[in-house]
Amino acid sequence: MKRKVTKAIFPVAGLGTRFLPATKSIPKEIMTLVDRPLIQYAIDEARAAGIKEFIFVTSRGKSALEDYFDHSPVLEQELRKKGKDELLETLKNTNMDSGAIAYIRQHKALGLGHAVWCARRLMQNEPFAVILPDDVIAAEKPCLQQMVEAYEETGGSMVAAMEVPKDKVSAYGVLDVKEDMGSIVSVNGMVEKPAPGTEPSNLAVIGRYILSPNVMRNLNKKKTGAGGEIQLTDAIAEEINQDRGVYGFRFRGQRYDCGSKAGFLQATVAFGLAREDLRDELGAYLDEMVASRRAAE
Ligand code: UTP
Repeated sequence: MKRKVTKAIFPVAGLGTRFLPATKSIPKEIMTLVDRPLIQYAIDEARAAGIKEFIFVTSRGKSALEDYFDHSPVLEQELRKKGKDELLETLKNTNMDSGAIAYIRQHKALGLGHAVWCARRLMQNEPFAVILPDDVIAAEKPCLQQMVEAYEETGGSMVAAMEVPKDKVSAYGVLDVKEDMGSIVSVNGMVEKPAPGTEPSNLAVIGRYILSPNVMRNLNKKKTGAGGEIQLTDAIAEEINQDRGVYGFRFRGQRYDCGSKAGFLQATVAFGLAREDLRDELGAYLDEMVASRRAAE
């Protein structure tokens, strides 16, 4: 019988060097798209997928992230006094039930696989989700929820996957496809950051995973991979050698790479335009910008 997925790991212990100097003092995950930090989008997606326990793998300098999920009695009292019910409602989503959230420390950024392994003691023998908050996915049905539904059919381990242009694929974990069944593909192998020209396909892994408990056991071996880091991709690929099913899932939605500056700016524009209260003003400004750029060419 397949177990329900109720725990999610959020690895947020990376250095975020692409956003220096900002990330010198604020965690990347607290940076905002419009008015909500990246981490809020990730939490909302996890909740929609039925996740009940939220495990953060953090590091030095991430205390703003921990504070974000606390109640803020002074602020709440003030808003109540002023009758700002809508804002109070917004704040509700930022609070976590006692015991629903745990923080584990990764002492050194040894790689994504190592970050996930740091949470091993909070896991029983159960499947678990991994969400990278810097991949933000706009979708009618949240991506992890789509995956949980697909996982109910496949079992095994599942990674979110998307087609990327040939010249970009070597920046990702890449799937070697065994059988393409449309939204679900079965996988023969996975390579992290293949050298250009050696990639097995252009189907890349992005930051959503549902993993079998055995992946955690594979991570126990702590083998270093691409870039000298302990790679999650390698521990999942090992599942295939051990005759366990690994699947890629082509999600429906638009993914933004908010770990990169260009991706973050694109997401800001897209989420701004999606907001009723901003759409007209922002849209008019963008039209003006584009027109003046064209005129200057
Ligand atoms: P990235 O590759 O984006 O690294 O990590 P980064 O440190 O966040 O950012 P840059 O490249 O220096 O700008 C992908 C995800 O894995 C987590 C990161 O926090 C991010 O969510 N991660 C990575 C860890 O938690 N620990 C690690 O050792 C490495």
